[in-house]
Amino acid sequence: MTPILHATGMSRSFGGVHAVRDMSLEVAKGSITGLIGPNGAGKSTLFNLLSGVIKPDGGTVVFNGRDVTSLAPWKRARLGMIRTFQLAREFQRMTVLENLMLAPQLQLGETFWPNFLTPGKVRQQEAEIYEKACEVMEIALLAKLRDTYAGDLSGGQKKLLELARTLMIDCDLILLDEPGAGVNPALMQTLTDMIRRLNRDHGKTFLVVEHDMDMIAQLCDPVVVMTQGGYLTSGPFEEIRQNPAVIEAYLGETADV
Ligand SMILES: Nc1ncnc2c1ncn2[C@@H]1O[C@H](COP(=O)(O)OP(=O)(O)O)[C@@H](O)[C@H]1O
Ligand SMILES: [Mg+2]
Repeated sequence: MTPILHATGMSRSFGGVHAVRDMSLEVAKGSITGLIGPNGAGKSTLFNLLSGVIKPDGGTVVFNGRDVTSLAPWKRARLGMIRTFQLAREFQRMTVLENLMLAPQLQLGETFWPNFLTPGKVRQQEAEIYEKACEVMEIALLAKLRDTYAGDLSGGQKKLLELARTLMIDCDLILLDEPGAGVNPALMQTLTDMIRRLNRDHGKTFLVVEHDMDMIAQLCDPVVVMTQGGYLTSGPFEEIRQNPAVIEAYLGETADV
């Protein structure tokens, strides 16, 4: 089966540091693929290369059979490949509902309501976005928090909102950058369940960079391991965690595999 995302030979240096070096990665359609590796392995840099936030020195990114290597993040979003973004400060002063209603405009990089539209059409489009936001709040268990300011949400609720924002746009692939960071154990389970549900019931494919090995173990198959900017191995988590090369890569790291 052709992968939904296929990156080959990705490289990126900062000064003399090869953050990512000749890294290749495939994400199978319908999978929740994990990306792990010790600190400094190049996970965040690869993630930024895949989502288009930074430009590669070399390599290609193919999404759904289309070369997207030179496309801006919002253009990739239009094609159905979306990443979560941390809530910027200005959005903390908006409610959950407002954050969701603004998401399409932000992530698709355009004004959602162009001037040439007649007021009637604008209202209709706004009504559609409102309906979609209500639907997304139900899915993301945020309905009760719709009028809460994003800044007043807990760390875990903010993560739910970040994930919910990606659902405002029709997308096939969601890139999650440490969804578990700063989330308390109770909400961690909610978040994990939600990702699984979106995968199983809504057909979303995920690529997840995460430090929390419980979350990786629960969700991800396969798990890809990076070290020193490149590919080390991949496979089911149970196999990965017993691989001596993986254990060695993590030596000196506090995270245990
Ligand atoms: N913007 C940057 N400028 C300079 N060095 C960077 C930059 N981003 C990452 N690096 C370096 O690249 C390497 C990989 O970093 P990173 O991709 O953040 O790894 P990880 O997310 O796996 O911890 C590290 O040595 C890091 O210091
Ligand atoms: Mg990182």
